Amino acid sequence: MNRNKKTVPMIMGRKNSLKKIVALTAFDYSFSRLIDTTDIDIILVGDSLAMVALGHSTTLPVTMEEMIIHAHAVSRGCHNALLIADMPFMSYQVSDEQAITNAGRFIQEAGAQAVKLEGGTRMAKRIQALTDADIPVMGHIGITPQSIHRLGKYQAQGKTFESARKIKQDALALQEAGVFSIVLEGIYDDLAAEITQKLKIPTIGIGAGIKCDGQILVLHDLLGLGMNPSPKFVKQYTNLANETKKAVNNYIQEVRNETFPDAGHSYTVKVRKLKSSTTDT
Ligand code: KIV
Repeated sequence: MNRNKKTVPMIMGRKNSLKKIVALTAFDYSFSRLIDTTDIDIILVGDSLAMVALGHSTTLPVTMEEMIIHAHAVSRGCHNALLIADMPFMSYQVSDEQAITNAGRFIQEAGAQAVKLEGGTRMAKRIQALTDADIPVMGHIGITPQSIHRLGKYQAQGKTFESARKIKQDALALQEAGVFSIVLEGIYDDLAAEITQKLKIPTIGIGAGIKCDGQILVLHDLLGLGMNPSPKFVKQYTNLANETKKAVNNYIQEVRNETFPDAGHSYTVKVRKLKSSTTDT
């Protein structure tokens, strides 16, 4: 392992640090390699892969086999950031044994350093089993996209006293079960601030306000490559969709008006030799 590679204890050590933890998703080798050259702390192979890279309408259909292939590709480009793989729907819900087997595959086959899974108090026992097997776990509460059929829609969580209390209990239960960090997705900013203050482990917000110990975004959303209308919490830092379309339209035009390929992008022989070399057929 690269000596500069970030580790789980390093991320835990950033609790309450002045230097916020910054995380992004990646789904393939080329983007992983690119963002790993920045000062990014965590690369997550999120199950948002299902929607962003595979074109599904929810995160539910992505399989373990698909996640392993993408996580392995991302790990080949990730030499500095902490690499976390998301446990897909139905890869950890059935039993402790199933969860350990699948999480173990992410570590052993794909090169991840930790896994992430969704759910609060009801997942505490499962998380305990994983951490007992030496597999570091990141929790994920608030909007949990794998619960879409129970939730009905993606909407901010913790509006009532009762639901805010439940989210706080979930956060404490996950900490007790041994997670090294928790993603807080789509919860009211005052609630996220309170949870962040109460916990000894770092919170990573997405749609949870400014007071978390860190932030995460889906890379394609930040780059303006997201296909669906983005949630309120997404900030688009550039518009690569427009840049991509512009480049492709230029290419089409240049091929059709025969300005590409020009001499600078062609092999032009000045004097043709009589005999071919062994590598020239
Ligand atoms: O799958 C994902 O990309 C995620 C992040 C948004 C936290 O879970």
